[in-house]
Amino acid sequence: MEQEKKKRILSGIQPTGTFTLGNYIGAVRNWGKLQDDYECLYMVADLHAITVRQNPADLRRQTKEASALLLACGIDPKKSLLFVQSQVPAHTQLSWVLSCCTQFGELSRMTQFKDKSAKHADNVNAGLFTYPVLMAADILIYNADLVPVGADQKQHLELARNVAQRFNSQYSDTFTIPDPYIAKAGAKIMSLAEPEKKMSKSDENANSYILLLDDPETIRRKCRRAVTDSDGIVRFDAENKPGVSNLMTIYSCMTGKEMDEIETEFSGKGYGDFKDAVAESIIAELTPVQQEYQRILNDKEYLEGVLKEGAQHAQYIADRLVQKVYRKTGFYQL
Ligand code: TRP
Repeated sequence: MEQEKKKRILSGIQPTGTFTLGNYIGAVRNWGKLQDDYECLYMVADLHAITVRQNPADLRRQTKEASALLLACGIDPKKSLLFVQSQVPAHTQLSWVLSCCTQFGELSRMTQFKDKSAKHADNVNAGLFTYPVLMAADILIYNADLVPVGADQKQHLELARNVAQRFNSQYSDTFTIPDPYIAKAGAKIMSLAEPEKKMSKSDENANSYILLLDDPETIRRKCRRAVTDSDGIVRFDAENKPGVSNLMTIYSCMTGKEMDEIETEFSGKGYGDFKDAVAESIIAELTPVQQEYQRILNDKEYLEGVLKEGAQHAQYIADRLVQKVYRKTGFYQL
């Protein structure tokens, strides 16, 4: 029987500092799990990163580190393409054409633009404004069927769909209309300090998040300090017990245990025991990831080889699409 063509997935992450446990559980860990069922392309979005000021040496180092970390988290270059966005110039070529199919008003409505321009009021650059167009190019250039995105990127994906539809109807059918990929066990991890907020590395309080590269002592300390409540009962109730419920979600993601199993495991025990168990489960999961990360980072030849091959392959796919778009747009072909 002929094998059904696998759907194509594309996602990207910005290389701005190490990922949090929230990025890992909510996104990156799942990327590795999709590789057998989908044709996956994963990208380190360094072009997007410069919409806010970056120190060049840090950006270069963080791009390398983010790539190594993605590999350590389970992206297998034999199954998926891993590449750095700036190494595939076709993205910026398509981005220009798409920007001429995107309305000023549409971009003005993007909530992330509003948030970021308020936060970086001294640098509201045009790139920050057209950021979603480049993101649309990232997706459409590979004819991706599915895009795993968090809630904060949903609006950008919606824009990509609109732009694709507009191009298709103005010229002719060219782009696949991408759908969001909603992970089955997509858990959202909240801040350890304020469990009503999402865990974020841009939080001022460093105790509110766990980083993938935190050492065991730091993980233990952050878990012990996590905000809970005064009930003393390990029970899942996201509304009334957000802190405990968040720790339970983390524990469940680390161990594969169901919530009722966890409730039984800790019935009659205090939060101290529970928090220690959560910490140990995180350490057990992250230790091999950290070791693999160090190994890859030290093997420069391997890492560069993977990224070079990834970029070449991505460029090959992307170039064909750009040629097609240029032709349809009416650019003179020699
Ligand atoms: N904008 C995304 C973020 O900040 C990163 C990104 C860039 C992306 N291009 C993408 C995500 C394409 C999905 C698809 O998280």
